Amino acid sequence: MPIRLAVLLSGSGTTLQNIIDRIDRGELDATVAGVVSSRAGVFGLERAKKHGIPAAEVLRRGFPNHEAFNTALWTEIRALSSDLVVLAGFMSLIDVPPDYQNRIINVHPALIPAFCGHGMYGHHVHEAVINYGAKISGATVHFVDTEYDHGPIILQGAVPVLDNDTPDTLAERVQALERELYPQAIQLFAEGRLRVAGRRVFIH
Ligand code: GAR
Repeated sequence: MPIRLAVLLSGSGTTLQNIIDRIDRGELDATVAGVVSSRAGVFGLERAKKHGIPAAEVLRRGFPNHEAFNTALWTEIRALSSDLVVLAGFMSLIDVPPDYQNRIINVHPALIPAFCGHGMYGHHVHEAVINYGAKISGATVHFVDTEYDHGPIILQGAVPVLDNDTPDTLAERVQALERELYPQAIQLFAEGRLRVAGRRVFIH
């Protein structure tokens, strides 16, 4: 049985698209049970609809605080009976209920613990990497805990930062890596091959 994914997003949904494409090509033993967006009218929702995937909006700005937002968010997620929650450009902090510990994953476009944390997303990350003068960057797939970009690391890969890189050219290189690493991590989860011990994730 393919595992059921709940995909959470706030934007264009290129990460969602990659997951859909991998499933269609038979490279990922999963099904997208539903998509939840924290922003209204984003293109990620269109992508879901186009593929006949149930899509819901739980708008962060529609709630007075983190708690109220998360209560509504988890009502949607639980309705999908998902095995794994996949953050795909999801820009809000999510609570981790005890039964979903190590069942929520995220991809960050840098080598955690560098260039991550609140406000470090998308373009901001690549700009910071270049401005700092780092020679390598990369992508990190990790389990989600209650801090931004912080939970146990599942997979990491590196790419060079070139002298003539702009945030856009570096983003392209990092995103190509993300498109490989994220489905790979989901597949490892689907096969039950990840074991978490404290901060360390062992693959077997
Ligand atoms: C991805 O590059 C992902 O690494 C990044 O947002 C992008 C989502 O793109 N996530 C973070 O920065 C998380 N801290 P998308 O909205 O087109 O899928």
